[in-house]
Amino acid sequence: MAPPALQVIGITKAFPGVVANDHIDFALQRGEIHVLLGENGAGKTTLMNIIYGLYKQDKGQILLNGHEVEIENPSAAIAHGIGMVHQHFMLVPPLTVAENIILGVETVLGRTAFLGRLGFLDLNGAVRRISELSEQYGLQIDPRAYVRDLPVGSQQRVEIVKALYREADILILDEPTAVLTPQEADELFTIMRSLTSQGKSIIFITHKLKEVFAVADRITVLRNGRVVARPDGKTTLEPAETSEAELAAMMVGRDVALTMQVEPGQPQDVVLSVRNLRVLDDRHLVAVDGVSFEVRQGEILGVAGVHGNGQRELVEALTGLRPAVSGQVTLLGRDITRASPREITELGAAHIPEDRQKHGLVLSYPVKDNLVLNRYYREPFARRGVMDADAITKNAQALVQRFDIRTPSVDTLEGNLSGGNQQKTIVAREFSRPIQLLIAAQPTRGLDVGSIEFIHRQLVQRRDQGTAVLLISAELDEVLSLSDRIAVMFKGQIIRLLEREDLTGDEQAIRERLGLLMAGIA
Ligand SMILES: Nc1ncnc2c1ncn2[C@@H]1O[C@H](COP(=O)(O)OP(=O)(O)O)[C@@H](O)[C@H]1O
Ligand SMILES: [Mg+2]
Repeated sequence: MAPPALQVIGITKAFPGVVANDHIDFALQRGEIHVLLGENGAGKTTLMNIIYGLYKQDKGQILLNGHEVEIENPSAAIAHGIGMVHQHFMLVPPLTVAENIILGVETVLGRTAFLGRLGFLDLNGAVRRISELSEQYGLQIDPRAYVRDLPVGSQQRVEIVKALYREADILILDEPTAVLTPQEADELFTIMRSLTSQGKSIIFITHKLKEVFAVADRITVLRNGRVVARPDGKTTLEPAETSEAELAAMMVGRDVALTMQVEPGQPQDVVLSVRNLRVLDDRHLVAVDGVSFEVRQGEILGVAGVHGNGQRELVEALTGLRPAVSGQVTLLGRDITRASPREITELGAAHIPEDRQKHGLVLSYPVKDNLVLNRYYREPFARRGVMDADAITKNAQALVQRFDIRTPSVDTLEGNLSGGNQQKTIVAREFSRPIQLLIAAQPTRGLDVGSIEFIHRQLVQRRDQGTAVLLISAELDEVLSLSDRIAVMFKGQIIRLLEREDLTGDEQAIRERLGLLMAGIA
């Protein structure tokens, strides 16, 4: 039998405080799509960065076609026929596709590398070659288009062409679907199959179980830096011999509920009302473009959309973090359009922020202080301006228990907790006071399946206790399984509000409809 196209043996890599890769063995056969599945922090990107020459392993070997190689840097990886499409694209927007590809400038991990054939730029030759490659693999790339005009899905295909242009035989795709609509993801899967059928080998990284069964030839699961074995000792599986439930359990280390059965909510009075809201982004461009909606007591209004369509600015405006240019926001009838974050909090709104490390927590403070961040100055945690250390500790101990926050103690610094436990800290704090409105922005992004399950339950529980919940999420599954109604955002506008009756029936059809709406096709 031919040796694997790529094999790693005993790869180990430690960062301060964490072993990111712990004796990883893994083999990529020629012509296969090998899914590397694992939760956030499992060590997938680290392993790929080692294979691509961005990191040097502490221990272990890399073999290409059975021969051991040293991969000192990305240029060496490319010379060995390895191409990588990074989680964040590395293209230069004002240049054309062809210019981007022949220039071959890559900035990775803050370092800039020139990977093209410098000295002599044959633009016409490049244009021809790119067209050929595009044709051969069904990539639909126009080499003369400007990158800035291309939608995200096409930019990703440019990255693939770039790797092929440099004669990559092995392609590493690191969570490529994170930025795609479901339809774009399906198109990518078709391209991946066209690539492997013509002899390319692909490592496809994801944490989404549904995608595994759509594309995988074989699957390897990573958890805590290690390859996970099934009880029968197998570490690499074919789709036919496993299931979503089994893979989820391998990813998490225990059984998990994959989909939650959520009973419909009982909407009552309007809590949050937004009228013709306009908000600018950091570059002073219109990010929220005349948005209107209401959220009622006892319902979850989901906002679906691909990242970067104004969701972030919308949330910031509603929580007092960003000024509105025009329009009106009312909370329980009070105008909060120009209120400060603290005023909005005191009126009974809670916020689970998208960037928990920036807005939700003070990482250099202990867990117990983070659990009272918005209340430390009032009773029962302070009296006449003096904080009550005992009350703060007792509060923390109770919340740590109730919300299952995994921490050595309430005095541990928040920054030492995992992402899932940091998020639970925010949820615990925000839910431990009476709230009328909850704004949850990407509440489970980057969390393990176990924490996701927990937070979903908490959201539904809150709703059933009469809180109005606004859920903003780029995860279509999350929005679909939790929402009573769904607003789809595209280019700063709500292009459709789907009511309960639009969301009952054939799930596949609903998904497809939502996917099209997310792409701006109404
Ligand atoms: N450059 C780095 N410095 C320190 N720690 C890192 C670095 N890169 C990754 N890690 C840590 O290594 C672990 C694995 O991360 P990563 O490989 O990015 O996981 P994945 O891609 O599976 O989400 C995490 O705990 C992460 O915090
Ligand atoms: Mg990663």
